[in-house]
Amino acid sequence: MKEKIRGYIAPSILSANFLHLEDEIRMVNSSDADWFHIDVMDGVFVPNISFGFPLVEAINQVAQKPLDVHLMIVQPEKYIEEFRSLGADHISVHYEACTHLNRTIHQIKNVGAQAGVAINPHTPVALLADVIRDLDIVILMSVNPGFGGQKFIPHSFQKLSELKQLIRDTGSSALIEVDGGVTQENARRLFENGADILVAGSSVFKSANPTATIAELRKSAHPFMAADLSN
Ligand code: DX5
Ligand code: ZN
Repeated sequence: MKEKIRGYIAPSILSANFLHLEDEIRMVNSSDADWFHIDVMDGVFVPNISFGFPLVEAINQVAQKPLDVHLMIVQPEKYIEEFRSLGADHISVHYEACTHLNRTIHQIKNVGAQAGVAINPHTPVALLADVIRDLDIVILMSVNPGFGGQKFIPHSFQKLSELKQLIRDTGSSALIEVDGGVTQENARRLFENGADILVAGSSVFKSANPTATIAELRKSAHPFMAADLSN
């Protein structure tokens, strides 16, 4: 069976200019990007605090593409209904932050959102074996979560292959999202190795022409997408 390769780009709002947030959102709306990636950090699970409900609600008023909300918080199960009601289309929680991960995944599905689980660089892919069939998305962290602008951890390529294999072996339909340190230099290889979605924060928003950078990143997947379309 031929596998679909999406080749999606999800700009991370964490690196946007918050003084001009509406302009930044409109730029993403009119670009080749597919999703808005929204990083919520609590200062407990990760050593940084970003933003929460009011910002997700505000983004949702202008955004015309799905909101992909990445919760880097402890006890995420307390806040899933609220994020969904404010417009989150996908909600991802961290494997390391959930004691009852199966329950939390189903909680996300029950509110009508796509369910994702993120794993830190130190967390083996194999630990997802018993939940992978229930997932819509796996976020493979290719930096230690907490900050934009960090350097890509090369071992992530190995984990990407392992995750792709796990998805094939189990017949899961989960999409693979790679998050952290994605640039125009590594995007093609990430798509080639099985990534479906690339999150890109600083490489998009700190570039001279974010719209062109998004288009370039998305083009990295084109040879594979063309193969898929010919099917
Ligand atoms: C890191 C966040 C990422 C971050 C990516 O904790 O989960 O989504 O915004 O930023 P870049 O692309 O700059 O590494
Ligand atoms: Zn993220």
